[in-house]
Amino acid sequence: MAMKKSVLDFYEMKKKGEKITFLTAYDFPTAQFAEAAGLDMLLVGDSLGMCVYGYRGTLPVVMDQMIYHADAVRRGAPNTFVIGDMPFMSYQSSLEKAVENAGRFLKEADCDAIKLEGGVRIAPQINALVEAGIVVMGHIGLTPQSSGQLGGHKAQGRTAETARLVVEDARAVQEAGAQMILLEAIPPEVGRYITEDLDIPVLSIGAGPHCDGQLLIVSDAIGQFQAFTPKFVKKYCNVAAMVTDAMKAYAAEVRGGDFPGDEHCYKMIEGEEEKFLELIES
Ligand code: KIV
Repeated sequence: MAMKKSVLDFYEMKKKGEKITFLTAYDFPTAQFAEAAGLDMLLVGDSLGMCVYGYRGTLPVVMDQMIYHADAVRRGAPNTFVIGDMPFMSYQSSLEKAVENAGRFLKEADCDAIKLEGGVRIAPQINALVEAGIVVMGHIGLTPQSSGQLGGHKAQGRTAETARLVVEDARAVQEAGAQMILLEAIPPEVGRYITEDLDIPVLSIGAGPHCDGQLLIVSDAIGQFQAFTPKFVKKYCNVAAMVTDAMKAYAAEVRGGDFPGDEHCYKMIEGEEEKFLELIES
């Protein structure tokens, strides 16, 4: 079994040019699969709002939901670096609230780090968390919790001026003390610039191939989430089709009397059937 990696290992991987592998996970079995597959990091993302609960976005997700899922993921992947994602309004309104809620991920779900969205404007929160001894991953570019302000789930930094703003956000996150950063939905040129500019490991979800590692939403990667597919997604299998086919086959066998077969039935102890019939009819 591989040793659980720490943030220092991720710095070392950046230095050596070894790519960091990163997926979301929301439950115990998926976490087990990810650990067996040797993933370096798991994010218990608030994307579970859409992928698990069927909400239209991430805004309704609350801390208690995140803690329940993070706790299950930790049990499934005890030797993998697990990051808890701070849901909407768990950190924006005050530094105290941010520290209290981030602390819950560590105390109640044994997470290794937390992630929160925002650059320059969220730097005071990042600093407060780091001062409290918490490992922080920043998240900039397309930030789904503020997608209303961005005019929807749109790629960011596609013009020179907006790309400059993304770089400013990245620098603010590092200066505030975050030990890792995630870039979402920006052009690869900007992803490359930030990866070379920053000392901290830079993870990408839709920020091109030059970053220090890659993240995908597991429900996208395995073809489970069907509402929409962002441009940066690659599907490695089609779980939705596999599971639907399996369920159709099950229903057909039940309707046709083919399931359960003999091999799925418990046998009575030898001689007990006759005794049972006598007993029941007397
Ligand atoms: O919640 C999540 O899974 C995320 C990703 C979209 C980066 O924050």
